[in-house]
Amino acid sequence: MEKQVWSIKESLKWGIQWLKERRIENPQANAELIMGKILNRDRLNLYLTFNDFLSPLQINKFQKSIKKRARGIPLSYIIKESYFMGLKFQVDFDVYIPRPETELLVEKALDIIDSLKSREDTLTLVDLGTGCGNIAISLAKNLKKIKIYGIDISSRALTIAKKNVRLHQVEKQVELLLGDIFSPLKKFNLKGEIDGIISNPPYVSSHQISFLPREVKKEPMIALDGGENGLEFFKRIIPESSRYLKRGGFLIMEIGYNQEDEVGRLILSQKNMGFPRIIPDYQGNPRVAIAIKK
Ligand SMILES: C[S@@+](CC[C@H](N)C(=O)[O-])C[C@H]1O[C@@H](n2cnc3c(N)ncnc32)[C@H](O)[C@@H]1O
Repeated sequence: MEKQVWSIKESLKWGIQWLKERRIENPQANAELIMGKILNRDRLNLYLTFNDFLSPLQINKFQKSIKKRARGIPLSYIIKESYFMGLKFQVDFDVYIPRPETELLVEKALDIIDSLKSREDTLTLVDLGTGCGNIAISLAKNLKKIKIYGIDISSRALTIAKKNVRLHQVEKQVELLLGDIFSPLKKFNLKGEIDGIISNPPYVSSHQISFLPREVKKEPMIALDGGENGLEFFKRIIPESSRYLKRGGFLIMEIGYNQEDEVGRLILSQKNMGFPRIIPDYQGNPRVAIAIKK
């Protein structure tokens, strides 16, 4: 781009071509979302103002961002936002990017609450490994009377989660706690008091990490690495959950596509947990494990 004056349309054309040549999927959507972020306009407004000129600063920002995207930096890290359950969340390099697949976990948690209790009940829930807070916040938005503890071992992730809690005005419902799995809950004396535990823990096996796509490897390792066979967190979460849940309380977790047998066995090994249910995602892969405390 040597010319000094560029319209939105010309810049987009350049950006789309740059991404296309570097085999980035959906180059048009990527370029438009990046442009929209820089100009603070939605995609419809971009089309309506296609012939507006960009300032040199805007051109520079756009080019830099397109080049970052071409190097495999995830779009969400460039535009610093991501959508989950129809809500907008701030994200950056310090947090895992919410995935559409994880919406199934939240939908199933809401289904369990509908079948066992009521959305109007006062419930105490826990979101283990809350990241940017997407699960805890979307539950709080759907269940006005819950109290949910969002726990994460990464203080950087919690800094972002805090911003999202404020953005969605759920400060009264979501309490963020720093620490290792259940440890920050100790001071609250909640054993046997929790209505539901929800978690999308790190579950990629350590030896698979190096085979992950280049974009996924840009996310925090602590959010991905689930130790040997990716099962380390399930081995810790399942027995502890059985102690923290009330009778009739539920544990619901996202699992990897080949982990249903092992996770099922871990649940069955807890005498006070009911028979595990495994739910497939829309591609038919096992995705969510559920168990109710007896
Ligand atoms: C796969 S991400 C899930 C993020 C978010 N809940 C979601 O589903 O989009 C897993 C999260 O667990 C956190 N984590 C990793 N080890 C942890 C531990 N020992 N205790 C608490 N959280 C942990 C990571 O920092 C990361 O935010």
